[in-house]
Amino acid sequence: MVKVITYGTFDLFHEGHYRLLKRAKALGDYLIVGVTTESYDKTRGKLGVIDPILTRIENIKKTGFADEIIIEESSGQKFSDIKKYDIDIFTVGSDWTGMFDYLKDYCQVVYLERTKNISSTMLREQRQQIQRIGIIGTGRIANRFMTEAKLVSGVSTQGVYNPRLESAREFAKRWEIECYEDIEAFFGAVDIVYIASPHQTHYEYIKSALEHRKHVLCEKPMVLRKEQAKEIFAYAKEHNLILFEGIKTSYCPGFQKLLGIACSGIIGNIRNVEACFTKLENSDSRELTDAMYGGSFIELGSYVMLPILKLMGLDYEGIAFDSINGANGLDLFTRVTLKYKTGLATATCGLGVKSEGRLLISGTKGYIVADAPWWKTTYFEVHYEDTGKVDKYSETFLGDGLRYEISDMLALINRTAKNDFKLTRGESIALAGIIEQFIEKNQEREK
Ligand code: CTP
Repeated sequence: MVKVITYGTFDLFHEGHYRLLKRAKALGDYLIVGVTTESYDKTRGKLGVIDPILTRIENIKKTGFADEIIIEESSGQKFSDIKKYDIDIFTVGSDWTGMFDYLKDYCQVVYLERTKNISSTMLREQRQQIQRIGIIGTGRIANRFMTEAKLVSGVSTQGVYNPRLESAREFAKRWEIECYEDIEAFFGAVDIVYIASPHQTHYEYIKSALEHRKHVLCEKPMVLRKEQAKEIFAYAKEHNLILFEGIKTSYCPGFQKLLGIACSGIIGNIRNVEACFTKLENSDSRELTDAMYGGSFIELGSYVMLPILKLMGLDYEGIAFDSINGANGLDLFTRVTLKYKTGLATATCGLGVKSEGRLLISGTKGYIVADAPWWKTTYFEVHYEDTGKVDKYSETFLGDGLRYEISDMLALINRTAKNDFKLTRGESIALAGIIEQFIEKNQEREK
């Protein structure tokens, strides 16, 4: 019996897939089809797959060509599958020509001619109107955003607005996009507004973008007052618009995996969360000189509060802030301590003091630890009372990570994702509330 194997995502099953499977089956007597998992696709940069894996499997089954369907979870799996299933022929479409020649030592490798003018990417793009993104702000993060947005299918970066015209012109030239001098024209030309302007300008820009019926992705911290957060989320909901806070950790696959493991019961009940993130900045940097909106907590607080709110919840019973302030009153280092009915939490961040960046989640049966940069989680460990037993988990984090939040936002806009569970409105509102309390405490102290 000649055994054949092929692999693919098979999203939005189409003619090209059907013809490939038909010819793959004809190469032998028994066809095994490997279907990629969502997380594997994410790690290889294939974002925005629409059909859930069960639908993709069901579609392959319906063709009647597959004798067996398996799941493909990682890139090294093909080699072991060929041994495990005693494969004679490995086949894929000609778009992969040459890529799998390394398997020729173990079986025959056949590249079947790809069907022309059809692909899942094409179908995804046809289903979903391309969303045009307009950027407000031209700083470091806006530049990173440009690179990352290019990697997400279904969006195009249309143009930039910055009241500082020179910066806008330079940015537009660098990225070959439109430069809008008039904000009305800017809103008129885009579907999504990405806000990466100074913190204190976020609220007005968000309101204005929503009033122009645009979806909004706003850099963290989105706003600095709880009531403002409530108001803009309510407005967005009322007008069926997506408002999304860009805390990239929330959308990073490794962090999602970590939350899943933490909540699985494997470490028992979670009783303590400690998160620390420090990033030294020069004393003349914007972060350490902007008297109103600079300082460690406003800059980094969203990151360190995120795992706490995710794991311990929003109903803390007590919160205390302690800071080491510089001569200008801005916090160089801040520790936030929270008390919950069932546990404790500490968030530490600093722009002027270096510490060990670590996320530690302690439970009644064990603990999870992720070292810096845990906010771009790629690796974490689970430890138990028995020191000889350590579970290790890893996950890919591609590029700068912004591609994950862009593609998650797009899925919400296109209604291919059902909800905002990775960073809920409630969590964003709670974050704004905590930042507000921090600012008020600091102002009181200064009086
Ligand atoms: N395939 C093909 N002809 C097409 C499209 C895909 O023969 N027009 C083949 C691929 O070469 C691969 C298999 O079908 O062997 C599964 O491909 P997959 O990557 O799932 O489909 P694509 O349409 O290429 O998906 P995408 O656009 O997301 O890359």
